[in-house]
Amino acid sequence: MAVALLGALPSAFGAATSACTATSYAGIANVKSCTSILLKGPFTVPANNVIDLTGLKSGTTIQITGTITFAKGTLDKTNDLLTIGGSSITVDGTGGILDGSGPSYWDGLGANGGVNKPKFIRLKIASGTFKNLKVVNSPIHTFSVSASSSLTISGVTIDNRGSKQSLGHNTDAFDVSSNGITVTGATVFNQDDCLAVNNANVVNFTNNNCDGGHGISIGSVKTGSTVKSVTVSDCNISNSDNGVRIKMYNDATGANIDTITYKNIALSNIAKYGIVIQQDYTNSGATGTPGTKSPISNVILTNIHGTVQSSGTNVYILCGDCSKFTFSQIAITGGKAASCKGISPKPTG
Ligand SMILES: *[C@@H]1O[C@H](CO)[C@@H](O)[C@H](O)[C@H]1NC(C)=O
Ligand SMILES: *[C@@H]1O[C@H](CO)[C@@H](O)[C@H](O)[C@H]1NC(C)=O
Repeated sequence: MAVALLGALPSAFGAATSACTATSYAGIANVKSCTSILLKGPFTVPANNVIDLTGLKSGTTIQITGTITFAKGTLDKTNDLLTIGGSSITVDGTGGILDGSGPSYWDGLGANGGVNKPKFIRLKIASGTFKNLKVVNSPIHTFSVSASSSLTISGVTIDNRGSKQSLGHNTDAFDVSSNGITVTGATVFNQDDCLAVNNANVVNFTNNNCDGGHGISIGSVKTGSTVKSVTVSDCNISNSDNGVRIKMYNDATGANIDTITYKNIALSNIAKYGIVIQQDYTNSGATGTPGTKSPISNVILTNIHGTVQSSGTNVYILCGDCSKFTFSQIAITGGKAASCKGISPKPTG
């Protein structure tokens, strides 16, 4: 009896494992209720379909191996190709790849026009980790973090260079509108913001490499939004439009950016601004006239160093209502001299 029971064990485990492994898009519906899910590529998600992994059981682990490709379709920016939601969730890419077919959408217009483009990955995870995944070719935004808390994203590689260099507009790496988010150990090649914190408390962006995009940004912050307690540390920003960037919409009211720290940031080959803090932002460009109804306060910049192209500007600040800026060890060279308007006393350092 005992022998027979032992003999039965391996096949019982085998059955349990395969029951929670999806090897095709159609198979995903069958594994959603498991607490240990394996998405085993290669497979393709057909055009105009999305993977919905919301409502997962608490404590679920998802592993992804091989490549999962999302075929080009016609979904617009209100859609996400992959959504993961639940509490106490661990996503371990174990080196898997998600491919969003970005270059077949890219037309240089991003979310502002041209063909419809979906966002790629939305995380709605309370208390969890997302790690070791490679994400390539996002149609527009790569990671949107919303309705999440206590989430750590680590060891992720994002490559949105694609075959159509310069046309991948709005391929932001991490858009964060949630509290208690850490992003660490990311390697990003993209064509827009590496980080954009839009409406969030307590964000920690540390030990990341950003190449080819628009810099590490707070904002753009709009009417009614608050960004508070963000720490960006030990990051490299290369071949990008900007390095350190804080942007408030010029017409924002009741918005607030407070307690922002950037430290140990290395810049190289920055095209526009090494450091830019502006309250005159609009989606279609800066107005030159900063707003005064939404303050930026307690900005600490320490050890920000590196190079800007000669046509760029090392440091640019245009404020309508800014206070308590503390700068130290700022060593940015190569571009035009610093321009600092609308803050008194002027930050030194
Ligand atoms: C940010 O995250 C890193 C890596 O997890 C950690 O070492 C560091 O203490 C965190 N910093 C803050 C301000 O939370
Ligand atoms: C930033 O670049 C330096 C010099 O190349 C390197 O030593 C460091 O590890 C890089 N930082 C990250 C977060 O990869």
